[in-house]
Amino acid sequence: MKENVKKFRENGYIVFKNFLNRDEVKKSLKIIENISSKEKKGIILWSPHYYDKFFLDILVKKRLKFFLIPILNDPYYELIDKNKPNYILSEYIGIKDKKFLNLHIDSWIPSSSFRTWMVQVLILLTDRKKEDGCTVAVKKSHRSDLYSNRNIDKYLYLEGKKGDVIIIDSRMWHGRNEGKNNKPNWTLCATLQSWFIKQRFDFTKYFPKKILNKLNNEQKQLLGYCSIPPKSHYENTNPRKGYEALKDI
Ligand SMILES: [Fe+2]
Repeated sequence: MKENVKKFRENGYIVFKNFLNRDEVKKSLKIIENISSKEKKGIILWSPHYYDKFFLDILVKKRLKFFLIPILNDPYYELIDKNKPNYILSEYIGIKDKKFLNLHIDSWIPSSSFRTWMVQVLILLTDRKKEDGCTVAVKKSHRSDLYSNRNIDKYLYLEGKKGDVIIIDSRMWHGRNEGKNNKPNWTLCATLQSWFIKQRFDFTKYFPKKILNKLNNEQKQLLGYCSIPPKSHYENTNPRKGYEALKDI
């Protein structure tokens, strides 16, 4: 696994084949299909994990978690075991768009460090080849220390088959080339980040109770429940809490 981390840090992305098996892909598509079209209006399905726990089950799969721990974990987070994630989920969406998307970064600011604080986890539910409209990226841009240069049109095409997962460093200049066919397209995109970055949605303020009650500690932590900022210094002064904080939710 260390080799993979090295490769990821060098290239700014990595592809894992068959992250989901055939049944898991089918199950994901079926759940998405069953979510009312009212919720899927437009091209983005927001927060698929509000509809089914399964989408959080796949985010804590060992293969993904053991890859991401050395990349996103805070090594000085005392109250959670070092072999468990202390990184969190920022945003989770389903995308079916095939339109051109300009180069951008998702990390909010660029940097040249070998370390990152955020990744995009793209779980392909349909094959994504260049002609289908796939993620494009600019080689080695993740360490450029610059915001994206949108004049560049020499891309890496991050293709994959359904079930594969593509993980990109959020500092990487990336976008999408235009799909040239009408084949269906669904990709799950989870933004995972170090615990200290503000989440794009505050899942801890609102999360459907009937799903929350079925989640394990790791999944609740992933939603941010162990790193809610204390209301004041009278309440607490440690923002890095352990699983015991989950008893009160
Ligand atoms: Fe992006």
